[in-house]
Amino acid sequence: MDSIAILDFGSQYAQIIARRVREAQVYCELFPWDAPMEKILSIAPKGFILSGGPKSVYEEGAPYIQEFIFKTGLPILGICYGMQALTYALGGQVDPSAQREYGPAEIEPAMRNTMLDEISKVWMSHGDRITRMPEGFTVLARSGNSPFAAIGDMKRKYFGVQFHPEVHHTPNGEKLLKHFVIDICGMKPNWTPASIIEESITRIRKQVGNGRVLAAVSGGVDSSVAAALVHKAIGDQLVAVFVDTGLLRKNEGEQVASAFREHLGAELLTVDAADGFLDALREVTEPEEKRRIVGEKFIRVFEEQAKQLGQPRFLVQGTIYPDVVESSAPDRNKAEKIKTHHNVGGLPEDMQFELVEPLRYLFKDEVRAVGEALGLPESLVWRQPFPGPGLTVRCLGEVTRERVSRLRAADAILIEELSKAGFLGRNAGTSQAFVVLLPVRSVGVMGDQRTYQEAAAIRAVTTEDFMTADWVRLPYDLLAKVANRIVNEVDGINRVVYDITSKPPATIEWE
Ligand code: XMP
Repeated sequence: MDSIAILDFGSQYAQIIARRVREAQVYCELFPWDAPMEKILSIAPKGFILSGGPKSVYEEGAPYIQEFIFKTGLPILGICYGMQALTYALGGQVDPSAQREYGPAEIEPAMRNTMLDEISKVWMSHGDRITRMPEGFTVLARSGNSPFAAIGDMKRKYFGVQFHPEVHHTPNGEKLLKHFVIDICGMKPNWTPASIIEESITRIRKQVGNGRVLAAVSGGVDSSVAAALVHKAIGDQLVAVFVDTGLLRKNEGEQVASAFREHLGAELLTVDAADGFLDALREVTEPEEKRRIVGEKFIRVFEEQAKQLGQPRFLVQGTIYPDVVESSAPDRNKAEKIKTHHNVGGLPEDMQFELVEPLRYLFKDEVRAVGEALGLPESLVWRQPFPGPGLTVRCLGEVTRERVSRLRAADAILIEELSKAGFLGRNAGTSQAFVVLLPVRSVGVMGDQRTYQEAAAIRAVTTEDFMTADWVRLPYDLLAKVANRIVNEVDGINRVVYDITSKPPATIEWE
């Protein structure tokens, strides 16, 4: 399949550029700016997009455009730093602006019938600017601050924009990217769920032949869609295993198993490992220790299962493209570790498996579209994310069987009421909602009797990427109903509070 290569010069928006191109149904891949030529050319690119970046072109060690890119003779679109690097490489002049330009701006076209036709409001974020264009370039658009807001060399098909077409703050920016990849690079918009499925099936069959394949399904979107794709490719050569850790939400195990059976015609082997997990967690209260124990225990249970199944040679992993890209991105500051994230099914590399990763090149929205096209139910495809360590991270303090079932019961009431009121599910405005059980007891009164019981917190957030989040302004009456039902129906909880912190400074989960 043809493709577009996006070179990452250290931009926080690099992945967004790739998503916009994929949304135009064009396949693309992201590479660090200095990736080897063989690697970049191996995807047979029909054009290059150069991302923004934090450096100045004339700074020591600044990223640059590798020579072979020009030798291919293919179209290039440089965005922000990418435009400056292009200008610099082709003999134009780049200088520091008197003032850093950040935020909204307006541009005015200098020409008709270009990729900028539908763009007027744009998002800027740059320190340097072009002061002289390279030979062969003409001005396509100007802004109050920059006479060269967009430039192009029609003959060589080289283009540069000072603003960021990939972000939502640039209305119609996606049309500019689409125009570049389709009209200028000549790509066909053929990257659709159907073609993704078809291509994956070919690739999976080629990789595994008639070997047996094992999949760990957690109930999350990624592991389910990965297993579904592999099942579609090789049918009963796949054994999908669902480990019931005893730390799941109410009915979760049954829902996943029935989705597999009814919608895919695939069996899901359920392993009941609840006792083992709860034993391992006894008396542990430290959040990171709880996470470590669950991750470790999962591996042991899964190893044992694989042995019983005669050690299949292949293992399905639901790795998705952002995970792959993050691990090879250029020297962006590595984020400080806040908490250890485990994916159930995130198994160590020293296990004796060859990995099958059918979602390795897909973004989350593509994974969902593929899941739907494969016939998985909406309830599974649009399920809220659930942390790998399960309810342990929502059961603050010691994780006992009694406290987990208390939490599960309260959580089920919240979910039931939010669903009824239309706050959950696709496009309903709440990205994630759950109950947290607190190891705090307080005094209450119920039917003339004094109570001294635990408190529960409701968490409901809205977010686009789970990196930042805001709390949902749920109606008071709905909160009242949920609180009332929890205190009345769940033994051991006599007080309910609502978490009104955003992320940051809080995180979404409490542990
Ligand atoms: P935090 O609490 O870090 O959570 O704001 C961000 C998102 O990640 C989910 N989460 C996890 N997901 N394994 C996962 O697969 C984990 O260990 C884990 N911990 C948190 C959390 O539910 C939220 O969606």
